[in-house]
Amino acid sequence: MKELNFPELKSIPKEFQINFPFKQSTYLINGEIKQWKGDFEKVYAPVYYTKDGEFTNYIGEYPLMKEADSLEALHAAVEAYDHGKGIWPAMTVSQRISAVQKFTLLMKEKREEIVNLLMWEIGKSLKDSRKEFDRTLEYINDTIEALKDLDRKSSRFKIADNILAQVRRAPLGVTLCMGPFNYPLNETFTTLIPALIMGNTVIFKPPKLGVLLHEPLLDAYKEAFPPGVVNTVYGDGKEVISPLMSSGKIDVLAFIGSSRVADILKKQHPEPHRLRSVLGLEAKNPAIILPDADLEHSVKECALGSLSYNGQRCTAIKIIYVHDSIYEDFLQRFAAEVESLKIGMPWDEGVNITPLPEPDKSKWLTEYIEEAEEKGARLINENGGKHNHSLFFPAILADVTNDMKIFHEEQFGPVVPVLPYSSIEEPMEYVVNSNYGQQAAIFGNDTEMISKLIDTFVNQLCRVNINSQCQRGPDVFPFTGRKDSAEGTLSVSDALRVFSIRTLVAAKGTDANKAIITDIVQEQRSNFLSTDFIF
Ligand code: G3H
Repeated sequence: MKELNFPELKSIPKEFQINFPFKQSTYLINGEIKQWKGDFEKVYAPVYYTKDGEFTNYIGEYPLMKEADSLEALHAAVEAYDHGKGIWPAMTVSQRISAVQKFTLLMKEKREEIVNLLMWEIGKSLKDSRKEFDRTLEYINDTIEALKDLDRKSSRFKIADNILAQVRRAPLGVTLCMGPFNYPLNETFTTLIPALIMGNTVIFKPPKLGVLLHEPLLDAYKEAFPPGVVNTVYGDGKEVISPLMSSGKIDVLAFIGSSRVADILKKQHPEPHRLRSVLGLEAKNPAIILPDADLEHSVKECALGSLSYNGQRCTAIKIIYVHDSIYEDFLQRFAAEVESLKIGMPWDEGVNITPLPEPDKSKWLTEYIEEAEEKGARLINENGGKHNHSLFFPAILADVTNDMKIFHEEQFGPVVPVLPYSSIEEPMEYVVNSNYGQQAAIFGNDTEMISKLIDTFVNQLCRVNINSQCQRGPDVFPFTGRKDSAEGTLSVSDALRVFSIRTLVAAKGTDANKAIITDIVQEQRSNFLSTDFIF
């Protein structure tokens, strides 16, 4: 049987220990790092530890801001935008790129500190935490390159029907950025950086789980951007986010979380038609194993797809349909693969399964298992569902049917429902009837069957993976979903589009107008109307 134990603090390698408690008493508003004087919210980590005989998971605190503080952040962002006349939105693209490059240099220095906090606050393994940090830096660099490319294309004039025009992308206004707990750094930055670089000003609230890891970057924001361009708020969403939305002064909502919360936030805006929403929401991606699939490969890929970071990815495989001719064989191999996974602390060498950050998650997952078992499902792996506080060993539930909650709901954790099918219409119906529309993974070699699934799924989902798990990356590919899964498309280049609007300067092609435009361009009188080419 697997051991599910938490460590003594002194047994944790020194480089992964944090000076407990990590008390964040600062926040950033209007270019000033302020000292918080109010109440604090305590941070309880997924990683429990024993210190001087006491078993605890308390690791730190952060400011529990109130409505007035949040409105101060809003005021700073509105002022910095100044109806598009502020320093930041009116800057040239090259100047904004320089600011983001400066931020990146400062961010790099914080790698180890942020990686440590990622491990403690959200229980992500050392390898994946480092990957999250490095992938984020790469995303920023790719964004800069994509913007240069976009700007080069926009630096030319167009002529149609004797009208001269220059078309560029201009910012939208004040952006509220809220990322998710599973990728608190990466997914926050996949909206925050494009929003900033396109000239918007930002209010940024870290996810409830994964707050402290953003503290080391406050100085970098302050150093790299003009006052009011980045402002931070912390605290309860109802207290700090609702006033922002109902003020009507948020122009863009970038939110990664549940569709339920996204709907609440959108409805709070008094003039919803003025609000642009960029949403990454829930998903229930199926894997479909065809009768001729390479079982060894499918099992490995399904284990990776369903259980990387404990299944806490919106793109995770969350239900597996297996053709009944290979069902028992698949189950046996899948159970063996899952049982071989190592459970432990995020810094343990070769660890696969780590503590879950959401409070009471082991309890919810156990309820899914119990309900399914009562209705006839089988828990097929020896250690499946075994738990100790936040440590939960992955459970494979076989023979799942559509009267079970786990069939419909996004578990966002290490319980993997599997069911047999005899007709391909069954998984096809699942996708059609699902509330979600993100991705699917098809395993097999029968090109006729694969094509049939592709042609059905491409009008239901936004990515169909063949003999490959579901995933977001590489970040140059579009990432989006239908139904309750997303609004707007993110990729390195698409994100630049969603946080901006095409705007043009046009003139009838008279000699006088040509002379005016030539003078503006030659004398570099305008930041917008310009033929400057960024190298
Ligand atoms: O949680 C959803 C993430 O966007 C998934 O990204 O597929 O790279 O893990 P990933």
